[in-house]
Amino acid sequence: MAESMKGWKRSHRCAELSTQNVGEEVTVMGWVQKQRNKGGIIFVDLRDRSGILQIIFEESDCGAEGFAKAEKMRSEFVIAVVGKVERRSGAVNENLKTGEIEVRAAKVRVLSESETPPFPVEAESKTKEEIRLKYRYLDLRRPDLQEKLILRSKIVSKMRSFMANEGFLEIETPILCKSTPEGARDYLVPSRVHPGHFYALPQSPQLYKQLLMCSGYDRYFQIAKCFRDEDLRADRQPEFTQADMELSFVDVDDVIDVNERLIKYVCKEAIGLDVQIPLPRMTWQEAMDRFGSDKPDTRFGMELTDVSAVVSGCGFGVFTSALESGGSVRGLNVKGQAGMPRKKIDALVDFAKGYGAKGLAYLSVQEDGTYKSSFAKFMTAKELDELVSVMQGEKGDLLLFAADKKNIVYSVLGALRVELGKQLGLIDESQFNFLWIVEFPLLEWSEEENRFMAMHHPFTMPMEEDWQYIDSDPGRVRAKAYDIVLNGVELGGGSVRIHQDDIQEKMFEVLGFTKEKAWEQFGFLLSAFKYGVPPHAGLAYGLDRIVMLLTHADSIREVIAFPKIKDASCLMTEAPGTVDERQLSELQIMIQDGGEYGRTENRQQSAGRGDSGFSLG
Ligand code: AMO
Ligand code: AMP
Repeated sequence: MAESMKGWKRSHRCAELSTQNVGEEVTVMGWVQKQRNKGGIIFVDLRDRSGILQIIFEESDCGAEGFAKAEKMRSEFVIAVVGKVERRSGAVNENLKTGEIEVRAAKVRVLSESETPPFPVEAESKTKEEIRLKYRYLDLRRPDLQEKLILRSKIVSKMRSFMANEGFLEIETPILCKSTPEGARDYLVPSRVHPGHFYALPQSPQLYKQLLMCSGYDRYFQIAKCFRDEDLRADRQPEFTQADMELSFVDVDDVIDVNERLIKYVCKEAIGLDVQIPLPRMTWQEAMDRFGSDKPDTRFGMELTDVSAVVSGCGFGVFTSALESGGSVRGLNVKGQAGMPRKKIDALVDFAKGYGAKGLAYLSVQEDGTYKSSFAKFMTAKELDELVSVMQGEKGDLLLFAADKKNIVYSVLGALRVELGKQLGLIDESQFNFLWIVEFPLLEWSEEENRFMAMHHPFTMPMEEDWQYIDSDPGRVRAKAYDIVLNGVELGGGSVRIHQDDIQEKMFEVLGFTKEKAWEQFGFLLSAFKYGVPPHAGLAYGLDRIVMLLTHADSIREVIAFPKIKDASCLMTEAPGTVDERQLSELQIMIQDGGEYGRTENRQQSAGRGDSGFSLG
């Protein structure tokens, strides 16, 4: 039977008590981690978010009724105990913060009972993630998740205090919006008052924060919920949180400066990590050439080598035809892996194919100096020697090559490098390598759309020195855009924005917008810019990603209280769900024939993937 806590007040959290409290009478409340009945004595491990405290029950202290309650206690019962703090009668528990003490119960109440939970509430749970996500409220009791969410709260509070100190104003922007041009698919919300019209949930506060600059709030900051209907991965969620900022009267270096100090402050305050600033900067081009990625993990080497020049006249058609059609040939030197079994190499080839490679050519330098290779027969001994030498191949090395369009070669070798880094244990997990990537291309060619698209967004400022190429060679124009990368993950990104009409108009023209279309979509911004717009720039962090990296979490789901899985559903609430006919008719929405059927089929399909029956993302 559940008792009330009337007249009782909690005096301490469990793990706030120490030997300093010995002799005090305290009132503690929490969940029963474990009850051990030793006959005349019952021990209960009491747990709250601070940790675990041992309670000792003896009939001579807590009376027959109290002892009877203790006898019935099971895991996850919620209890309250009044008692004295004592030094432990038994052995000290070195693994516990409160290992030297215990509380001798004088009075006890059972505030609520618990059924046997579907899995034990314990650190490093072995229970499958989908079960834990279904019972997320229990999962969230586990100390490893609690630690992460507590640290998340600390990071946010440190960010807020830093930003306030620097003169940033925290201003909220709407959730019901018009669509923002960030490239992903929008989540739409139907309007009841305007049938057939829809709001879009914000992909980011981008346009609003630019408007705030027009309105004179020259330093804005917000912890903002963002929504993107895109394919999920381990570091992506359909709804996520940005730490978002915008500043007026600034250029690239000003944004970088305040953000470096923010990073230094938050890392020190939240996890005691010393970050040396200024942080290193690398141009986008250098990152692609050296690492095949715009978010390089610089904790290990194995950089890409361009071998196009060496193989240009060789006899291997795969290489030469890639070069003839304007592509490139690049390689990775996997040190000491010449003995990698064929099966493992085949798995790497499949991995590369997953990133668009047509194949992966390999050559291993044997201990006797001879080569074993998938393409040696097409090349002369001299050509092979030259290739190995540019790759700095030594006895025992495995060389891997991709030949294709440049962007495919980058993405294949970039991904392969990271995969091999993980497989071969080359990554020093204790390192935090922050890195700015700067001078991104302004535009990227979309094969799908057959036009240039903005690499960041259409309001990003081109670099002055490149603007001259906007007509002759648009792909060559670099942008005043920057990303902050940590250990191979894009933590945040931003840019200086265009504030001049003529540049903005030209940008829209290059992106294939007619004037009418640009005004239809962004009229409110373009109009605001007519009434005095300051030069401005900004940046947004993926807050979940920051917490994920600083807590060494394997997935973004571990740092979000109620995350979604790969198909964007919530296993606990079963959202998204169907709604009443009446709700639909109020919105004047009709579900197409087969809509419900189609959805069920989709769900089954995605459940069929992966051995656990769910794709977690
Ligand atoms: P961007 O689109 O680069 O820029 O987003 C900024 C940061 O948000 C994080 N992020 C995500 N995190 C989790 N799940 C997702 N689905 C997801 N998508 C993005 C990333 C990313 O670096 N308005 C601009 C910023 C600006 O220009 O000021 C913007 O949104 O860490
Ligand atoms: P093939 O002549 O198709 O048997 O290919 C010989 C070797 O080249 C095999 O190891 C293939 O995996 C590899 N290969 C094929 N296409 C490419 C490519 N585009 N880039 C690198 N290697 C490739």
